Amino acid sequence: MTKRIIIGICGASGSIYGIRLLKALARHSVEIFLTVSTAGRFVIREELDYEGDLVAGLVHSHSGPSTEAASIYEYSPEDLSAPFSSGSFQHDGMVIAPCSMNTLSAVSSGLTGNLMHRAADVSLKEKRPLILVVRESPLNRIHLFNMGRAAEAGATIMPACPSFYSRPQTVDEAVDTVVARILDHLGVADNRFPRWMGSRG
Ligand SMILES: Cc1cc2nc3c(=O)[nH]c(=O)nc-3n(C[C@H](O)[C@H](O)[C@H](O)COP(=O)(O)O)c2cc1C
Repeated sequence: MTKRIIIGICGASGSIYGIRLLKALARHSVEIFLTVSTAGRFVIREELDYEGDLVAGLVHSHSGPSTEAASIYEYSPEDLSAPFSSGSFQHDGMVIAPCSMNTLSAVSSGLTGNLMHRAADVSLKEKRPLILVVRESPLNRIHLFNMGRAAEAGATIMPACPSFYSRPQTVDEAVDTVVARILDHLGVADNRFPRWMGSRG
């Protein structure tokens, strides 16, 4: 069955994590339900050369065969009537990438004032995977406490920390080391990303 994945993009630095994740998923036969916070949209504009319609841009930049293209549905963060606002909506996982400390705080304390927070809360209560790609540095005790609380409630805390053993040469390649782990956790098989196979000697 076609996987359904919910993606949230917050106003933390590292909007490229959310965009690279969307691009990676767009190559697969999945349904993507996207919501971008107001701050997220602002940071995307500041950090990347993205203007206009995010979804249209992604579809346009998708170069794989159309039979493998994902379906992408975008919802306003204010739209609490979106399908994934309800526990009756079945999905295979939600990723917030990047996840701001603001949204981490809302998720860890059960606040559901916007669609992203509500969908994360619902994912936890329905025991569906919730991956928080948190981004802040340094971390204060409140951030650490909130990560612990979210993890205890069932979330996976996956910091926006690239690995370097594959010797990434570009920012995209470094970001993709995190994207690859997210796909693994979502159960989306993708062999384009390098894996550690032991030392090259
Ligand atoms: C350029 C820029 C970079 C930011 N980077 C971060 C960050 O890395 N981590 C973070 O928690 N907040 C960051 N913020 C602050 C968030 O955007 C702010 O807390 C906002 O309220 C988050 O809202 P959201 O959780 O609804 O996206 C940044 C803001 C700006 C303008």
